[in-house]
Amino acid sequence: MGRSEPTKWQRALYNDVVYSSTFGAPVEFEEYKQSYVAEVEQSIDFAGQSHDFFIRVKADELVASCARQLGSLKERSILDVGCGVGLMSGYVGDHFGQLHGIDIAPGVVDRASAQVPQGQFELYDGEEIPFEDETFDVAFTVCVLHHVPPSQWESLVAEMARVLKPGGLLYIFEHNPYNPLTRRAVSNCPFDADATLLTRGRSNALLRSAGLDAAEERYVLFFPWEGSGFRTIESGLRWLPLGAQYFVSGRRVR
Ligand SMILES: C[S@@+](CC[C@H](N)C(=O)[O-])C[C@H]1O[C@@H](n2cnc3c(N)ncnc32)[C@H](O)[C@@H]1O
Repeated sequence: MGRSEPTKWQRALYNDVVYSSTFGAPVEFEEYKQSYVAEVEQSIDFAGQSHDFFIRVKADELVASCARQLGSLKERSILDVGCGVGLMSGYVGDHFGQLHGIDIAPGVVDRASAQVPQGQFELYDGEEIPFEDETFDVAFTVCVLHHVPPSQWESLVAEMARVLKPGGLLYIFEHNPYNPLTRRAVSNCPFDADATLLTRGRSNALLRSAGLDAAEERYVLFFPWEGSGFRTIESGLRWLPLGAQYFVSGRRVR
């Protein structure tokens, strides 16, 4: 008797991924180009913080980590992969010499261009990043991979690594599937209906498969409150798998 196809839960167990309850067809972000922020705000309402707060904390983490590893960023170039309406780019762009963003949904790229004049945003096919090899010092992607079919994760991360200069850094920010409040927010959010969450270990494996050396990583967003004191405590807790999200980063050696 032939072996039957594994169920999605068996695949989750083997691949270290976590499926949302309504695993289905890919979400079209074009539908959410106007309502994106409002939909997220509604899904995280119970946390008592605006979506802008969560974006700002991640942008600060990204800029601080890049500065620790690369020094001055003013002459550096950065690429936002899956830039959406440009929320992260808006906070990150001023710290870098050059900012580019790409996405697969035309409407969100238009909004990013309108909202972040210091950046250059363009549409692409989701497969081949439209830049030459070794173009950027940093490439990052925030809450994008969980919308990409798992069979395409490795190729997307490999494409990001291809456009990095030697010594450049690749960052993946993702939801932490071990945080119950994150799971709740994902199940509340209409455009997370296609989400396949990745653990930090799975994201690190993607960096390794792209040939990158391990660089900084940490869990973030433990407390939904403003204040440098909370960010300092979070920094001490960075190893604890309870932050709402995490980032991992890898360095291209050659
Ligand atoms: C949840 S939004 C995140 C947007 C932005 N990174 C942020 O944090 O605000 C996910 C974005 O990923 C984009 N996306 C989905 N698949 C993609 C792919 N293969 N390559 C690049 N972007 C993709 C969607 O069009 C959407 O804009």
